[in-house]
Amino acid sequence: MNPNKALWEKGDFTRIAESMRESGEALVQKIGVANGMKVLDLGCGDGTTALPEARLGADVLGVDIAANLVEAGTRRAKAESLANCRFQEGDASDLRDLKDGSFDLVVSIFGAMFAPRPLDVAREMTRVTRRGGRIVMGNWIPNDPTLVAQILKISSAYSPPPPEGFVSPMTWGIEDNVIERFGAAGVPKDRVSFVRDAYTFRFAAPPAELVDAFRKYYGPTMNAFEAAEKQGRSEDLKTDLEDLFNRENRSSDRGATIIPATYLRVTVTR
Ligand SMILES: C[S@@+](CC[C@H](N)C(=O)[O-])C[C@H]1O[C@@H](n2cnc3c(N)ncnc32)[C@H](O)[C@@H]1O
Repeated sequence: MNPNKALWEKGDFTRIAESMRESGEALVQKIGVANGMKVLDLGCGDGTTALPEARLGADVLGVDIAANLVEAGTRRAKAESLANCRFQEGDASDLRDLKDGSFDLVVSIFGAMFAPRPLDVAREMTRVTRRGGRIVMGNWIPNDPTLVAQILKISSAYSPPPPEGFVSPMTWGIEDNVIERFGAAGVPKDRVSFVRDAYTFRFAAPPAELVDAFRKYYGPTMNAFEAAEKQGRSEDLKTDLEDLFNRENRSSDRGATIIPATYLRVTVTR
């Protein structure tokens, strides 16, 4: 079994994605999606950005490595009668089913960053984008003080070291790496631009319950808890994450959680 696929099929990312819908919709409004545009949403999950793209009239293909999320996205599009939003399984490192230059816009929000072999990912995203088209990526930033980078930092303190040669997904949040990877795919540096923006997690329960959702449904956090459990330290990990989520929570309602997290938005023009 492909470990990248197994990681994302392990949990149920829809349970986390539900806390990210508003920011997903807001982001789609900012990236120039228009009626009739051919959009590839890569690492689409259950369609947090794919559905809003389709609601704007784009012809959307969502591709994800996780079969359960492809099914969930298909169900969500069907429930809204969005015939212009299809989902299929695929790997961002190898998009062999997709033709050269077949999309006006390739969107990957915290998606392709998790695929192995980043040079292949940049090459494939570039290949399927038409000349004059765009690629928009949202990538978490390593060592950033906000939520997601800190979850990963805390989790790694409880996890075994990654296998040799492993390239951290977080390296997609470093501008020089992004320029180098698209450069290797033939995109000049002046066609790559960056904006730091915020994505807000909104959850209708206190922060400790959002931690619990990550523990039960988010593959990387599930793995961290399994590793901590083996060392008899799962309570310590829970406490560290709850401290983080409480610290970052901006909600004045004790029964709700609102946590903004900073990410790097990358725009590449072919
Ligand atoms: C953090 S989730 C984000 C999902 C979605 N873009 C969203 O905004 O809700 C990461 C997604 O990337 C997908 N993914 C991970 N590795 C992938 C790969 N190699 N190819 C395609 N999708 C991948 C996962 O299955 C998961 O749906």
